[in-house]
Amino acid sequence: MNVTIIGTGYVGLVAGACLADIGNNVFCLDVDPRKIDLLNAGGIPIYEPGMGEVVRSNVEAKRLQFSTDAAAAVAHGDIQFIAVGTPPDEDGSADLQYVLAAARTIGRTMESFKVVVDKSTVPVGTADKVAAVIREELEKRGRTDLGFSVISNPEFLKEGAAVDDFMRPDRIVIGYTDDAAGREALAAMRKLYAPFNRNHERSRVMDVRSAEFTKYAANAMLATRISFMNELANLADMVGADIEAVRQGIGSDPRIGYSFLYAGTGYGGSCFPKDIQALTRTAREHGQALRVLEAVEAVNDAQKNMLAAKVFARFGADLTGRTFALWGLAFKPNTDDMREAPSRVVLLELVRAGARIVAHDPIAVDEARRVLQLDFADNPALLNRVSFSSAKDPMEALAGADALIIVTEWKAYRSPNLERLKAQMKSAVIFDGRNLYEPGAMKDAGIVYQGIGRNSA
Ligand SMILES: NC(=O)c1ccc[n+]([C@@H]2O[C@H](COP(=O)([O-])OP(=O)(O)OC[C@H]3O[C@@H](n4cnc5c(N)ncnc54)[C@H](O)[C@@H]3O)[C@@H](O)[C@H]2O)c1
Repeated sequence: MNVTIIGTGYVGLVAGACLADIGNNVFCLDVDPRKIDLLNAGGIPIYEPGMGEVVRSNVEAKRLQFSTDAAAAVAHGDIQFIAVGTPPDEDGSADLQYVLAAARTIGRTMESFKVVVDKSTVPVGTADKVAAVIREELEKRGRTDLGFSVISNPEFLKEGAAVDDFMRPDRIVIGYTDDAAGREALAAMRKLYAPFNRNHERSRVMDVRSAEFTKYAANAMLATRISFMNELANLADMVGADIEAVRQGIGSDPRIGYSFLYAGTGYGGSCFPKDIQALTRTAREHGQALRVLEAVEAVNDAQKNMLAAKVFARFGADLTGRTFALWGLAFKPNTDDMREAPSRVVLLELVRAGARIVAHDPIAVDEARRVLQLDFADNPALLNRVSFSSAKDPMEALAGADALIIVTEWKAYRSPNLERLKAQMKSAVIFDGRNLYEPGAMKDAGIVYQGIGRNSA
């Protein structure tokens, strides 16, 4: 099938490359010429395992192309995916300007029936707005004879496992309108996704508003589990219980399960923070408070300060003359995404208190340099206190450190050589924001160890 993807970011690039990989002819459009030039030169703008190979092989097979030519893009696809960003507005609600601009692009140049697919995460009711904008453009052109239907098909991929998630989805949510154009659009979507449903049917077909809502509900549930465990972990620290034992104890109940119950330094990334905010703002617009989710957000904001608070509790509020090693900058492993990463909060707090930081991350250092310039825009001189060790060996960051602070659970941090670690550091102290190690083993090794909710040992 001929497919157009409008917005070649994380989601658009993954969706475009994967849909090309199963045999479709895919045209990826973006307004950012640097991104398109890079892709056309064989580069990949994001770090995502497996991504480079899928893109390269499909470009070679001439099933995947990248361009800034909007008219050519709209002409290409019978199915037009909108996969542009939906960042938070000043009040936290989703900013739909990019989605509606993409809709306008479609309405301005379409010459045949189009299935318009909202893949971006958008508030309930957005499909109606997208349809209204397209209709308005068609009216301006006197082309109301041209048909279209807007489908909601939210994306559930996880950064770091995006290619695999797209190729082997748990479910494919498709929201459609039950009229003639909507049924034609649904048939096209079923055909497009048929290769993913060979083993069993993964499509969940529903009305558009429920599909839009499903994406927010999924992220809200996952974020709730994280904040719930973080709050319990902080209590576990006070009462001398081990949150990891508690996690296993409750996870064995199949109604609860083990996933997404890890205590840590709070969630970050491009989705949870903005989606929770957007859903609570939507509720407020309807005169309802989503009290659970408002608490989820507040708990998460506080949790991002937890590691720094533990450092202050041990070393005092003035950290002048102290050096800390920081392992992990990306908001989670296997990505270079620094959006809303907890490491940014830890870095800001400790550097402002006078500390020097030597940070390590296997992938995200370049991206970290970029975002930290924004974070330290008020006082750029403070950035001189942050340096980055070689990506190859996390141990190098430890030289002379007063403590090690772990923020991201990269595999490379799982089994450090503890003797070398102690030999490198000024004092053997670890603040572990991801609970990577056993407190008992750390104690036996002579290391002062503070995890999140693990101080029972
Ligand atoms: N990143 C994720 O893990 C993830 C997962 C599921 C859903 N989502 C959702 O998918 C959407 C996209 O997220 P992302 O992370 O891919 O964003 P992104 O910022 O990485 O990419 C968006 C791209 O759209 C381009 N763009 C903006 N306006 C355009 C226009 N009018 N025409 C063409 N291109 C345009 C931008 O230049 C950018 O390259 C968001 O709504 C997000 O919430 C993201």
